[in-house]
Order: sequence, then C-alpha cells, then structure tokens
Amino acid sequence: MADRTGIFAGEDPFALARAWLSEAGRSEPNDPNAIALATVDAEGLPNVRMVLLKEIEDGAFVFYTNHESRKAEEIESAGRAAFVMHWKSLRRQVRARGLVSRVEGPQADAYFASRSLQSRLGAWASRQSRSLESRAALLAEVARVTARFGTSPPRPPFWGGYRLVPLEIEFWADGPFRLHDRFRWSRPDPGLDWSVVRLNP
Ligand SMILES: Cc1cc2nc3c(=O)[nH]c(=O)nc-3n(C[C@H](O)[C@H](O)[C@H](O)COP(=O)(O)O)c2cc1C
Repeated sequence: MADRTGIFAGEDPFALARAWLSEAGRSEPNDPNAIALATVDAEGLPNVRMVLLKEIEDGAFVFYTNHESRKAEEIESAGRAAFVMHWKSLRRQVRARGLVSRVEGPQADAYFASRSLQSRLGAWASRQSRSLESRAALLAEVARVTARFGTSPPRPPFWGGYRLVPLEIEFWADGPFRLHDRFRWSRPDPGLDWSVVRLNP
C-alpha cells in the first residue's frame, strides 16, 4: 500500500508489533506489554481482563496464565480470543483476533523458570478465578506449597501459556483532530498471505 510509511512501514506485522512494543518500553511508566484480553463465554457474553504479553513469535502472540481459570475455560471452548494493547505515551494501539491454542512443554517450563520464586509459588497457591474464603487462606496455601517445593517449584500441571495466531491485526496511531491512521492486516486462514487495507478512523 503506497502510503503505509513511517511507523507503519514493513511487510511483517509481527516485526511491526515488536518494534512498537519496544518503543513503548522506553516511554510507558510500567507494563508496556499489558494487553486487554477478550474472550466469550458459552452464551456469547464477552469477558475481558488484562494479561501480560510475554512473547511475540514469528506468527503468534503468547501469554501465560492458569489453565483452569475462567479465561482458560472460555478460550478452550471457543478456540479463539482477541486483545488490544494501548500505549498512552505513544497514543497508539495494536489489536489482534484469532485462533488460540495451549503453550505447554519446554517453552512453558522455560518461561515459568524465569519467574521469581514468589511468583512460581504463587502460581501453585492460586486456584485462579475460583472463590477464596479469605486472604489468610491464600497465604496459608503459599506456606503449604513453600514447605512442599522449597526453592525449586516445577511448573504446575494447571499453569502454562496460550498462543494466539491472528487472522486480523490492526495498527492504530493517533492523528490530529481524530483523523487517526489505521491499517488492518487480515487473512482468512493462518496459512494464507496477509492483505492490508487502510481504514477510516
Ligand atoms: C497489568 C496486569 C497484568 C496481568 N497479567 C496477568 C497475566 O499475565 N496472567 C494472568 O493470569 N493474569 C494476569 N493479570 C490478572 C488478570 O487480569 C485476571 O485478574 C486473572 O487472570 C483472572 O482472570 P479470569 O478470571 O478472567 O481468568 C494481570 C492483571 C493486570 C492488571
């Protein structure tokens, strides 16, 4: 597309997302990799919450969570999800929607091992999304798993990642008087080439 230049230039949307995220890393006060992750429940009621984007692979976006959480239940039954990343400091957003599958095995083990000990123990202690009697009960569970695993907790069998393979990615940048720039990359199937269109703001 002739006028896709400057911050929108390039033929690989994953490289572009990486470049924007790295720029945001220099200007955001915290969590430049925070994404609002949208799922849908069995009745079609949407749901949304923040998670941290941990990897941008060549072809996919990866985040980590509890595989027994509400989001996991919704992702696994629908097989798809969407997210948006917004950087106030850059006045830009990137959104993506597509197909989601689990990240387990060595890749999830390696990411789990990179987390702080307290976060690894916390992952064991939290029955994410389920009701909790009190904060004291959670801290008692942390003490219990600490006694069990000491300083080397393995990755819990109920904890790992999800890989979102987009069918659409949109790059948006603020323009004067709400005349923003938007480019949408889309493909009907992950095996097919992208087509890119400029969208009205
Ligand atoms: C900035 C930010 C980052 C977060 N990152 C994660 C994350 O990477 N993984 C995660 O499971 N929850 C993360 N959370 C907590 C989630 O927003 C959410 O409370 C939790 O995952 C339970 O969601 P669910 O009940 O819909 O499954 C984060 C929250 C915030 C505000």
